[in-house]
Amino acid sequence: MLTAVRITNNEQVEDLRQMRNACRGTYTNDNSYITKGMQRVFWKKNKDNIVGFLYYNDSDLIGFGILKKIDSKYYSSVGVHPLAQGHGYGKELTHMLINSIPDDVWGVALDDNIGGIKMHTKEDWEFVSDDGKITTFHTLKGRK
Ligand SMILES: CC(C)(COP(=O)(O)OP(=O)(O)OC[C@H]1O[C@@H](n2cnc3c(N)ncnc32)[C@H](O)[C@@H]1OP(=O)(O)O)[C@@H](O)C(=O)NCCC(=O)NCCS
Repeated sequence: MLTAVRITNNEQVEDLRQMRNACRGTYTNDNSYITKGMQRVFWKKNKDNIVGFLYYNDSDLIGFGILKKIDSKYYSSVGVHPLAQGHGYGKELTHMLINSIPDDVWGVALDDNIGGIKMHTKEDWEFVSDDGKITTFHTLKGRK
């Protein structure tokens, strides 16, 4: 079982940067490398609209999840370190992440990102749309 640690301090923001850079390549928006300077600017600008967590298996940092509020809607973004992928952590931390707030959450994934699609499980998410490149999901009402 994973342990979630809320991201609040600079060290955790740096862990988030490193984890996100390790996972980049299959995000829908931006897959560019994030420098320390870019991360500082990003966090300063957005921290009041982000609920973010680092996820640990025992003492090993295996992934992250953030909920970012954009135009009053929360969007999820997650990553599992490449060395830890394929063990169910993506599904587990996504479930934990969306249940960390009572609000509805929106999720997006590239259609060819199989893990990214599958972590939006039927127990928690409903399909919204697929534009041929990106699938959009929305959390179920009354999800557990
Ligand atoms: C997407 C991601 C978070 C999934 O994490 P993960 O820990 O590997 O996923 P899980 O082990 O929980 O697997 C979830 C499901 O996807 C399947 N899956 C995961 N990676 C897969 C792959 N590369 N190919 C085929 N199936 C895959 C698993 O078999 C599992 O299927 P099941 O529900 O039928 O059992 C991880 O691959 C990642 O960080 N990718 C880079 C960043 C990213 O794409 N983030 C998501 C953007 S939407």
